[in-house]
Amino acid sequence: MGIQYDAKHQVFHLCNDRISYLLAVLRNGQLGQLYFGSRLPAAGEMPKGHDYTYLFEGVKRATSSYVYEGDFTFSLEHVRQEYPAYGTTDYRMPAFEIRQEDGSRITDFVYASHEIMDGKPKLQGLPATYAERADEAQTLAITLRDEKIDAELVLSYTIFRDFDAIARHACFQNNGSAGLDITRAMSLSIDLPDADYEMLQLSGWWARERHLVTRPLAPGIQSVGSLRGHSGHVHNPLLILKRPHTDESQGEAIGFSLVYSGNFLAQAEVDTMDVTRVSMGIHPHAFDWCLARGEHFQTPEAVMVYAAGGLNAMSQTFHALYRTRLARGTWRDKVRPILINNWEATYFDFDEDKLLKIARTAHDVGVELFVLDDGWFGARCSDTSGLGDWQPNTDRLPNGIKGLSEKIHALGMKFGLWVELEMANKDSDLYRAHPDWILHVDGRRESHGRNQYVLDFSRKEVVDCIHDSIAKVLRASSVDYIKWDMNRSITECGSKGFPAKRQGEIFHRYILGVYDLYERLRTEFPHILFESCASGGGRFDPGMLYYAPQAWTSDDTDAVERLSIQYGTSYAYPIVSMGSHVSAVPNHQVFRETSLKMRGDVAYFGTFGYELDLGTLSAEELAEVRGQIAFMKEHRELIQHGTFYRLKSPFAGNVTAWMVVSADKKKALVGCYKVLNSTCSPFQRLRLQGLDARADYAVKIDGRTDFGDYTGAELMRAGLVTSDFSAGEAPREAGKHCTDYWSRLYVLKAKG
Ligand code: DGJ
Repeated sequence: MGIQYDAKHQVFHLCNDRISYLLAVLRNGQLGQLYFGSRLPAAGEMPKGHDYTYLFEGVKRATSSYVYEGDFTFSLEHVRQEYPAYGTTDYRMPAFEIRQEDGSRITDFVYASHEIMDGKPKLQGLPATYAERADEAQTLAITLRDEKIDAELVLSYTIFRDFDAIARHACFQNNGSAGLDITRAMSLSIDLPDADYEMLQLSGWWARERHLVTRPLAPGIQSVGSLRGHSGHVHNPLLILKRPHTDESQGEAIGFSLVYSGNFLAQAEVDTMDVTRVSMGIHPHAFDWCLARGEHFQTPEAVMVYAAGGLNAMSQTFHALYRTRLARGTWRDKVRPILINNWEATYFDFDEDKLLKIARTAHDVGVELFVLDDGWFGARCSDTSGLGDWQPNTDRLPNGIKGLSEKIHALGMKFGLWVELEMANKDSDLYRAHPDWILHVDGRRESHGRNQYVLDFSRKEVVDCIHDSIAKVLRASSVDYIKWDMNRSITECGSKGFPAKRQGEIFHRYILGVYDLYERLRTEFPHILFESCASGGGRFDPGMLYYAPQAWTSDDTDAVERLSIQYGTSYAYPIVSMGSHVSAVPNHQVFRETSLKMRGDVAYFGTFGYELDLGTLSAEELAEVRGQIAFMKEHRELIQHGTFYRLKSPFAGNVTAWMVVSADKKKALVGCYKVLNSTCSPFQRLRLQGLDARADYAVKIDGRTDFGDYTGAELMRAGLVTSDFSAGEAPREAGKHCTDYWSRLYVLKAKG
């Protein structure tokens, strides 16, 4: 792994053992993009005198504009660039734009110097991937300068030794005497030499988050984004390009992922010469950052993953990178406690006795963590009041959070608490004392969502106050886990804390405030396991994973719905980051009745827990729950830290399948799910992946019933025979017919 600089041709080559990323200084001093893909020979491995600059094709195209008089070979419209500007012969969407005091938006940032360093410097106040040791990564920082406005632009690139990923961000510095307005500042821009791709995105809405959507790239712009103030349920800050023939197990795929939780834009622009420009960063709409003399602006980080071996390989790189070098802290490498959450069991209707009863039953069957959800504070008896007042409600909890947490601990369980720190109800003491602390614009209506308003986290005094009130609760009691919720999008995004010309900064400053509060709390309470949440999966993004190593995947806990949601989420996010619970039937979101077995079999592939009152179950069901918990405890190391493979897509048919394999390939777990039953259905085989071809595996259905011994080679090449899925002729299992909402787990253990 390393970064080489060919000074003669001014070419930078970032490579590890598997991938290369090449960029170069162009004739006009700006940066050009040469290559991103499987590894190319580095200096010393190439024929003498060979270099890669021929990859720039300088050819004349009628009606273009050219940079140099008398020269028809250099138009920025036809040069593949690294961080392009608009207005100087390139007519595509730029990576950045700076409005100057004279009204011009023309800039000319040219190469000034560069630095190559071991490791990876931290980003200030922003989430980012990291290197633990200097030899794990190398970073290239290229400084470009625009003399006229006396500004610098530093583009930073990190290549990792163990992950086929490049992390990038940009930083603008104003050294001049005039003010600059940054109106667009993408985290990445890359021009790929052709357009023979399909674009994959994760899209949806509340309770159907991150469904996979695939479309062929077409000339023009195709984009996803958010203008909601958070990454949102609608689109995820992820864009994947794959070749048309690429599938889960073979072919090229490039994943672009933004480590950010606010407004974002991710787009692919295909020009008429079939060049694909991908850009990703803070959404430029409603963004306008004043850069006064001496100030700098740093974009969030974007991560680009290249895989030659299919979409599973791409996802596995994201999983490994985000699990071990984005997530941090005590919980990063630990299996996660099995929890019970009282939300769907009680909603707002609870008192201490009721909670303790739920906790006791849960503890009896092996649950490890009790989580008290919404409603424990202030006058919070419904969603109309109390939000913002982080003092325990002693009518419901006579001994406060301290007393309840002690009782839960006395049972032998950990104790967790729900918070929604970024919001206030107007019916709260906080709002009554500080009505100007919500985001709003004077003289305009204040729109609500779920009867609540968004606190102005761009202001430090607001963040400080919320910090102090929640830290007081945490210091006084013994809290092991926090579910950090966020239940509405931002409207009327104005702040009393900033002058008129800085109102375009508020969306981003808000997120910086959220990150600041997270950082302060996780630093003071390093033992706490944070789970992020935003009405389910409305802020499931890499930015959040830096602070909270797990996220509530969706409020939709129906097993069938969760197949699509978890499958889609797995394109970028590790299994251990997905909050997944078994809930009651009929399901509270779609009113479907699925078997307890299927609900468990789906929820295993995540953090695992329960979202119901176990006391309402029959003795038989409770015994089944006890078995599920024992199963998860036995297999969670494999599930949460193993290598995950998607096998059959819920977006393609009635059967879904996925599997995890341990690092040493000695254990694997395959999950198969059939939504609707049919008679005499076609034969089914599942070709497994990632096994040791030469190992003998003992296969057990649900970890109990012998299903035979097979070599890894057979299981991967001939496939696991799963035909007895179909009903009618299927054998009876545990006295029951195979029917709708049916699932089966295969546990594989290498023999010897
Ligand atoms: C939305 C979350 O997604 C739910 O799990 C629950 O915590 C509620 N908020 C509580 O208000």
